[in-house]
Amino acid sequence: MRGALAGAGGTQSAIDEVVLLDQTAAPATGDPRVRVVAADLTADGVLESAIDADTRAIFHLAAVVSGGAEADFDLGMRVNLDATRRLLEICRARGHQPRVVFASSVAVFGGALPDVVPAAQALNPQSSYGTQKAIGELLVDDYSRRGFVDGRSVRLPTIVVRPGRPNAAMSSFASGIIREPLNGEPSVCPVSRGTRLWLLSPAKAIECFVAVHDAPASAFGTTRVVNLPGISISVDEMVAALVRVGGQEAADRIRWDLDPRIEQVAGGWPAALETSKARTLGLPGNENFDEIIREYLATR
Ligand SMILES: NC(=O)c1ccc[n+]([C@@H]2O[C@H](COP(=O)([O-])OP(=O)(O)OC[C@H]3O[C@@H](n4cnc5c(N)ncnc54)[C@H](O)[C@@H]3O)[C@@H](O)[C@H]2O)c1
Repeated sequence: MRGALAGAGGTQSAIDEVVLLDQTAAPATGDPRVRVVAADLTADGVLESAIDADTRAIFHLAAVVSGGAEADFDLGMRVNLDATRRLLEICRARGHQPRVVFASSVAVFGGALPDVVPAAQALNPQSSYGTQKAIGELLVDDYSRRGFVDGRSVRLPTIVVRPGRPNAAMSSFASGIIREPLNGEPSVCPVSRGTRLWLLSPAKAIECFVAVHDAPASAFGTTRVVNLPGISISVDEMVAALVRVGGQEAADRIRWDLDPRIEQVAGGWPAALETSKARTLGLPGNENFDEIIREYLATR
């Protein structure tokens, strides 16, 4: 584990403790600084006891992902919106302006989009999840402007290749069509081959989270939101890369079964975003999709 993060003044300070809070207990790491808390962050007292006046950094990733928030409106609102606002309120009550890095998403955009979505594109989510993330970004901006937190929102591309099992995200197939075939398992692709996606690997996403946390507030300009770097690639090009890295027999494990609902939502997300702020902040991206597949093979 990394030994230090930027403190309030920007200088690196040693990490004494990392609290991993999730409703599903994170696997033990063996590092004595890591405390695993298995709890529902919407339950009374959970966030209050997790965040105290010594909490310097909060990476807020817990969420009901896109398909889940579409399937259960109340749950999505409770976890993605109400708990995010409560988290910010607790920070405000503690009065010490911790750094908060909020995981947002390209799902804040939708409707008619240009090929490369500019930094000033109006938020126009087409899902409850995207709406909750858009409100979260605005709250992080306003709580920062008021001096309650030192917040930052990262708009994550679709993260590929996620380890583990499929989740309820509309974009879950993007990892599934690579991960399952490489592991000898069948996979279903619910979108057409021409669908373009904006992708980043898990390792680069983690590096970006840390770099965004450590960047000075002055580097963000008039909004604390930053589009993370990504590569723009069609599903067909992803499969061609799978053939190059994993062989034709891997690609043959993909079955095409279009799901109009997923095609409409995931296919409506931006295929590329303008990332000049990410470059200014020195955020790392991937070179190409073959590299992303090899990263997965090296870490699975
Ligand atoms: N993976 C992607 O492609 C992607 C893209 C854009 C944004 N994001 C965002 O990044 C974050 C992480 O995404 P992920 O892909 O790892 O999703 P994930 O579903 O694997 O992780 C979300 C985590 O939140 C936890 N959680 C949900 N409700 C909770 C609750 N009430 N209390 C405590 N924990 C709860 C879940 O147990 C889960 O571990 C999310 O905020 C997601 O919206 C991810």
